[in-house]
Amino acid sequence: MKLDDVNIFRCPKCKSSLKLSHCEPSQVQEEIMEGWLACSSCGKRYQIIKSIPRFVDSAGYAASFGYQWKKFARTQVGDVQKKISKIRFDATTKWPGDLRGQLVLEAGCGAGRFSEIALDTGAIVYSFEISEAIEANLDNVKAPELRKRHHLFQTDIYEIPLPYGMFDKIFCMGVLQHCPDVKKAYLSLMPFLKPGGELVVDCYLSQPFKHIFNLKYRLRPFFKWWKPSRLFTFWSFVISIAYDIKSLCSKIPFIGALLSNLIPIGRLNYEPDYHLSVPELKEIKTLSVFDMLSPKYDKPQRLSSFRRWMEEGGLEILGLTTGYNGINARARRPADKKMV
Ligand SMILES: C[S@@+](CC[C@H](N)C(=O)[O-])C[C@H]1O[C@@H](n2cnc3c(N)ncnc32)[C@H](O)[C@@H]1O
Ligand SMILES: [Zn+2]
Repeated sequence: MKLDDVNIFRCPKCKSSLKLSHCEPSQVQEEIMEGWLACSSCGKRYQIIKSIPRFVDSAGYAASFGYQWKKFARTQVGDVQKKISKIRFDATTKWPGDLRGQLVLEAGCGAGRFSEIALDTGAIVYSFEISEAIEANLDNVKAPELRKRHHLFQTDIYEIPLPYGMFDKIFCMGVLQHCPDVKKAYLSLMPFLKPGGELVVDCYLSQPFKHIFNLKYRLRPFFKWWKPSRLFTFWSFVISIAYDIKSLCSKIPFIGALLSNLIPIGRLNYEPDYHLSVPELKEIKTLSVFDMLSPKYDKPQRLSSFRRWMEEGGLEILGLTTGYNGINARARRPADKKMV
């Protein structure tokens, strides 16, 4: 944790300021590696572990994500994956490539596929995450030039330990549908916008008729209760075999395409331009299945709900469309709007 952040973080319970305690003086340099933050008002204490302040005691319902992003820590980072993520980030946020000097909040950062992209704009980025995935993020964003502008913390989206009105930009990708109360999670981000600041989120789109036939929603009621390690072992095996069979089928003359379509693991190579290897493709597909089946909550939403929530929150709608991951909602806090 950066030393200056002691004065920035707030108690998530009562919003009072925090004091650094139980910290060896030798450990207080630019970065505090271990220690405690104590609330000056309610007395609650929050531990700093491996340089990350922890404002939650456990990941609770999101524990499977901690497992997921440690197991697949590198699957969505690195050169090729970064290009893919950058295309999605740009298309969703529509932000300029240069955000130097701006303060950006990333909600539910996971292993950090979008953290590095946000940092590459030159912005100062605060990324949070409820689960242990925050440690995978720390390992993934290593370059000293980026590290000094990256502020990681573990917290719940419903209790963000920062001052209101702090951020020029906030983004939250792949997260809202996995929260128990999607509206509350979305509204909880709004007070942290500066006047004129922008909030960009995506969320699964509700398509009730399509969902009836969607294999994911047929399998989830059974698999979402499995222990993450068991789910991982089972699906790594199944995907690997299914991939090989699909690959063989696709080579059979005339009926190959038809036969391979019967194996529902998506296209063999979903990004032909990027020349991913077979082990990489298998890993990506295993992650994708794990990500579909393990989350406790999977709550697709309607476009009309986001329109209503933006209006309720007093935000100006910049864009409300379907795109990557379903709904893409872009909004701005009007310069004269009081949020809290
Ligand atoms: C599908 S992952 C997406 C991670 C990252 N944004 C990405 O696109 O790679 C969803 C993330 O949201 C996090 N999450 C879920 N509920 C949360 C909450 N209440 N507060 C903070 N993070 C949460 C999960 O732990 C998980 O890492
Ligand atoms: Zn407090």
